[in-house]
Amino acid sequence: MLRKKDIEPMGITLDRFIKSRQDEFPGVSGEFSQMLRDIAFAGKVINRELNRFGLLDIQGGHGTTNVQGEDQQKLDVIANYRFIQALSNTGEICAIVSEEEEEVIELDRNKKYIVAMDPLDGSSNIDVTVSVGTIFSIYRRITQPGTAVTAQDILQKGVYQVAAGYIIYGSSTMLVYTTGAGVNGFTLEPSLGDFFLSHPKMVIPPDGGTYSVNEGLFSKYNSEVKTYIKSCKERELKARYTGSLVTDFHRNLLKGGIYFYPQYEGEVRGKLRLLYECNPMSFICEQAGGRATDGLRRILEIEPSDMHQRSPLYIGSPQMVDEVSVIMAKN
Ligand code: AHG
Ligand code: MN
Ligand code: MN
Repeated sequence: MLRKKDIEPMGITLDRFIKSRQDEFPGVSGEFSQMLRDIAFAGKVINRELNRFGLLDIQGGHGTTNVQGEDQQKLDVIANYRFIQALSNTGEICAIVSEEEEEVIELDRNKKYIVAMDPLDGSSNIDVTVSVGTIFSIYRRITQPGTAVTAQDILQKGVYQVAAGYIIYGSSTMLVYTTGAGVNGFTLEPSLGDFFLSHPKMVIPPDGGTYSVNEGLFSKYNSEVKTYIKSCKERELKARYTGSLVTDFHRNLLKGGIYFYPQYEGEVRGKLRLLYECNPMSFICEQAGGRATDGLRRILEIEPSDMHQRSPLYIGSPQMVDEVSVIMAKN
């Protein structure tokens, strides 16, 4: 006879978790929960595309460039399309900002949510089967539903995010998100096609032994950044850098560490985009007990002036971010 202890517990599905939180927080509406479920669904579709990637003739460049003038991989385009499709279906979103779209995508002006996203983060990793991710950030619009979406709605500070998350497509696929009440992580069970709560109430270690930065640009960094990198080396911290912020951040979130993409000669704002890379990751990091700055200012307090604007980013274990901030302040 099958005994209860022989049956593996499956845990809580993302759906059930979202539903239970919805009851806990009356401010979080049913529509909002539906939006999170739709994002998770799009993540599953991307996950499937990525897993089939080696088998299909969709590898390599798409022959187009995005708004940053960077080559778009075919999967960048596919992921962008899938997410726009999923978010359009929720019927709750008035506008989408995407790394891959020069202009704001306007949906239903009667709705109240705005989503900013990086549909595929670390896309140079796709061809080499290294982890990539998706980043999303959700805001409530400031202007009244029914009117046109304005720059004021789009260019909100990160502190006003109502939710943010990422999906990491790695050795397993995980969705990690926050609605401002802690961070929870869910792992995809591929045969069931459901995300299960695997990492409840995630907390980043206060200190860590890993630093993640593109050291190939060392000669272009300012003296403060060089000083910090040298101090990491002197302490023989582990250098780990994959070329995907989501991947490097996720590892640091679990094990402790710092990721940084500094300003560098020729690009005082660094490389990463404030709205759909720095802000959502910073919201998650802070909710897990970490910190995120541009070297001097808290990322979430930066007033955006352009939806594709860049910002330096120092993010991770609080002691490590504080340490680099002290060095940067001497500038
Ligand atoms: P994306 O693939 O969305 O353009 O983002 C890549 C970002 C970030 O995820 C990564 O850490 C960094 O750019 C890598 O840049 P370098 O190759 O300059 O190190
Ligand atoms: Mn990115
Ligand atoms: Mn991208």
